[in-house]
Parts: sequence; structure tokens; C-alpha cells
Amino acid sequence: MRVSDQLAARLKDLGAEVQHGVSLAARTSLEIGGTTDELILHRYDRIAEVMSVLASERIPWRYLGGGTNVLIGDGELPWVALHLATAKPGMRAEGNFAYVDAAADLGGTVTFCAKHDLGGMEGLIGVPGSVGGALRMNAGAYGTQIGPHVREVELYRAATGKVETLRGSEIRFDYRHTSFAPNDVMLRVKLELPSQPYKEILAGIRMCNEKRRASQPLNQKSAGCIFKNPPGGSAGRMIDELGLKGFRVGDAMVSDRHANFFVNAGRATCADMLGLMGAVRERVHAAYGVELENEVIVWQN
Ligand code: EPU
Repeated sequence: MRVSDQLAARLKDLGAEVQHGVSLAARTSLEIGGTTDELILHRYDRIAEVMSVLASERIPWRYLGGGTNVLIGDGELPWVALHLATAKPGMRAEGNFAYVDAAADLGGTVTFCAKHDLGGMEGLIGVPGSVGGALRMNAGAYGTQIGPHVREVELYRAATGKVETLRGSEIRFDYRHTSFAPNDVMLRVKLELPSQPYKEILAGIRMCNEKRRASQPLNQKSAGCIFKNPPGGSAGRMIDELGLKGFRVGDAMVSDRHANFFVNAGRATCADMLGLMGAVRERVHAAYGVELENEVIVWQN
């Protein structure tokens, strides 16, 4: 979708920079996604005004964070992509609290906290993406989830058109799911973390990094696990047991390293990836009677 030059000039006054015809494949870890105009929000304090302009001009939008857990449709997209400028996201530690901008890198945040002797987030070290995305999805790995550490979230809520602050206790954090609305835009978070010596935290970080390197295809293009684990089960193990590692539709392929990672093995399209997901879902259902649910967020046109 194209933003007119006139509208782009209005948005610029509000600290929102328009880039025309951006390939979102370049913005996602799967390297899949069509083309649209992108709006980079340089000023958090003017987000409500930007959104109000978009609403009055009837411009549909989707908020894209780190792009590491999303599968975007092919071709010309009928919505603009919004994202927060990531040049210098704020991070501050004070006592047992860390105050972090949503645009910050999650791994960088874990390291920053460790350097301030704040632990508890080691498991999240290798989870790619932004802090905003981690909040949205309640990112988790190796027994750690971000949710329990959240004390406050400042966010733009599309439902009210306002920037609000929610207390951690007002937000539901479940397995890879939260009570945030799909079009809530995370701005900042206050985390409470246990004090721990840096060296100890570092040892935990190294252990998680090793485990991840041993089992996940870290240098292939993926969105992490494609399906949620069903209650009490493992999507990766089921897909593996069916002999589907290496199975492909076009250039979308079940990783030969971890069967719940679906990778872009060349020039995969969204259609390839959806085809692969559908085929694997059917086989798992036929063999185990289990209906796998997407873990990746899918934005089709
Ligand atoms: N397994 C296989 N074959 C495979 C993959 C896994 O047999 O190809 C077996 C493993 O041997 C193990 C079990 O399945 O016994 C579980 O595998 P793993 O320990 O790799 O964890 P997972 O359940 O597949 C979850 C998260 C990951 C997270 C890891 C580590 C989900 C969907 N996945 O994976 O998160 O990194 O645990 O805590 O919850 C993500 O969110 O994108 C993600 C990758």
C-alpha cells in the first residue's frame, strides 16, 4: 500500500518517516514477505497522533517488531508496516528493576541486565527479536518466560487510541499467548529481576546458548518453532517421528536439525510455507489425532 506524498509530509511532522516500497522479506528472519510502505516511528510521545492520522485517512496498518516470529504474505500488501525506530533504544537499571524500550533487542536486554547483576532471564538469551515482540508473545525458553518479570508495560492501545500503562498483574501471560490485543503497540516495560552475581548469570547464559546451538538450526532462515507444543506433547518430536525432516514444499523445508523449525531453504514464498504447514499439520493429525496450532503469527494479505 502506498502512502501519498501529502500524507507522508503530515506524518513527518509527527516524527514518522515513510519509506516507500519496502520488501518486508528484508525485515523478517524467514526472509519471506511482500512489499509495502513502511512507517518508522521516531517519537514514542507522538504515536497516538500518528495513529489518529492513519485512522482518519483509513490507512490499515500492522505493527512489525523484530520480524522473528511472523510469516508475511507475498506480493503487494494492502496495509502499511509500522515500526519503532531502533537506533538507540533506552535501557536503564535501578535496584531490582530494568526499564527497557520495546524496540530493544531481547538478547541485548538479557546481557544488559546481567551486567547489572540482574538475573532470571538467562533462558531468553538466544530468542531472537525485540522486547516488544517478547512481551506480545510471552517469549520463553529453557524454563524462563518474560511474563512473570513484567511489572509495568507502557503501550499504545488501538481500542482507546491512547498511550496507557498497565500493571503486570493486569496482563495475562500464558504459553506463547497474552491478553494484549493484536494491534496493541508495546512501548516500554519495567521488569523486576532477582539480584545475582554477573559471573553466575553468565554461566547460565552460556549453558542456554550451548543447548540451543546443539538442537536448533541457528544459521538457517526460520521463525523459530512454527507450531506450539500441544499440551503434554512435543510438536518437534511428532514431526520428527513421522520422518518429515527435510520434507519440502517449494523452498519451504522442515529443518533437518529440529523438526518444529521450518526454514526458507532458498526463495520460499509465504504460499510455500503455508503449504508445508498445512501438509505437516494434516500428517500429524492423521497419525496422532492432534491438531497443531500455529506458534508463528501469520499475516496474509
Ligand atoms: N525432538 C525430537 N526431534 C526434533 C526436535 C525435538 O525428537 O527434531 C525432541 C527432543 O529430543 C526433546 C523434545 O522433542 O525430547 C523437545 O524438544 P526441544 O527440547 O528442542 O524443545 P521444543 O519443545 O521443541 C521448546 C520451545 C522453543 C524453545 C525450546 C527450549 C515451543 C514451541 N518451542 O521447543 O521455543 O527454544 O523449547 O526451551 O514451545 C520458539 O518459541 O520459537 C522456540 C523455538
